[in-house]
Amino acid sequence: MMVFLNNRILPLEEANISPFNRGFLFADGVYESIRTYNKKLFRYKDHLDRLKKSIKEIRIDFKEFDSLENIIYDLIKKNSIEGEALVYLQITRGSAIPRTHSFPKEKISPTLFISVKEFAEDNAEQSRGVKVIFQEDIRWLRCDIKSTSLLPVVLASQKATEENAVEAILVRDGLITEGTHTNFFAVKNETVFTAPKSRLILEGITRKVVLEFCEKFKIECCEEFINKDDLKSFDEFFITSTTKEITPVTSIDYWTINQGEPGKITKSLQAVFKKITEDY
Ligand code: PDD
Repeated sequence: MMVFLNNRILPLEEANISPFNRGFLFADGVYESIRTYNKKLFRYKDHLDRLKKSIKEIRIDFKEFDSLENIIYDLIKKNSIEGEALVYLQITRGSAIPRTHSFPKEKISPTLFISVKEFAEDNAEQSRGVKVIFQEDIRWLRCDIKSTSLLPVVLASQKATEENAVEAILVRDGLITEGTHTNFFAVKNETVFTAPKSRLILEGITRKVVLEFCEKFKIECCEEFINKDDLKSFDEFFITSTTKEITPVTSIDYWTINQGEPGKITKSLQAVFKKITEDY
């Protein structure tokens, strides 16, 4: 496997990083996951804008955004990826000795790491739907930043795995925010609901695409928090992300929704998503 690190593409075995890297010591960094359709990076500009926002919010001095796209395509080529690719890109504040919580006094270079792998969506999950569980949202109050500081999400996601679920949906003060690595949607009387843009969720690119579909196809849409206690009044549920696309949720904890059948609106949104990605 070839990766990008320290300003060059090199074999993974030669990619070394200092243990004093602040990404390692403090999770002092941000990331993006981007995938290709027809070998083109999907909604690259949206991912880049979100990356720029994350970088700005955590005050990392990184400016080489213009070269990223070419590096990614080059890396995909160097890894001889035949089908579609999933790209992981991480930028940390860099390495400095000694370890200090505040930013290092001397100027340090940020660390840019990029890896790519072959990727195919899970068609079975998308046609049959998945189980999710609820977990308390114990993350920090800047979930709009795509930070690598993911411990609450790691633990919630592990709990989901242990309960044979695909995702843990996070609940803060009784309100559903999002999944550990997906946005969460519910449908009631043909109106689509999802948590509003705020510091409590990540503004997912797939979420944005779904909201665009709703507008285009005149599906009523409401960016409002859903109260966990009101859940049973909804007809269908789905999660969205770069890797899950639009995946129906057919059971939540021990509740099987609609006899385990993906919902009508969910299926129509999936069909539109399939079409635009096939033609991308
Ligand atoms: N996760 N919410 C959270 C907390 C996420 O981490 C993600 C993305 C999303 C969906 O965003 P998008 O539609 O832009 O992928 C929502 C990525 C896939 C990850 O963690 O690798």
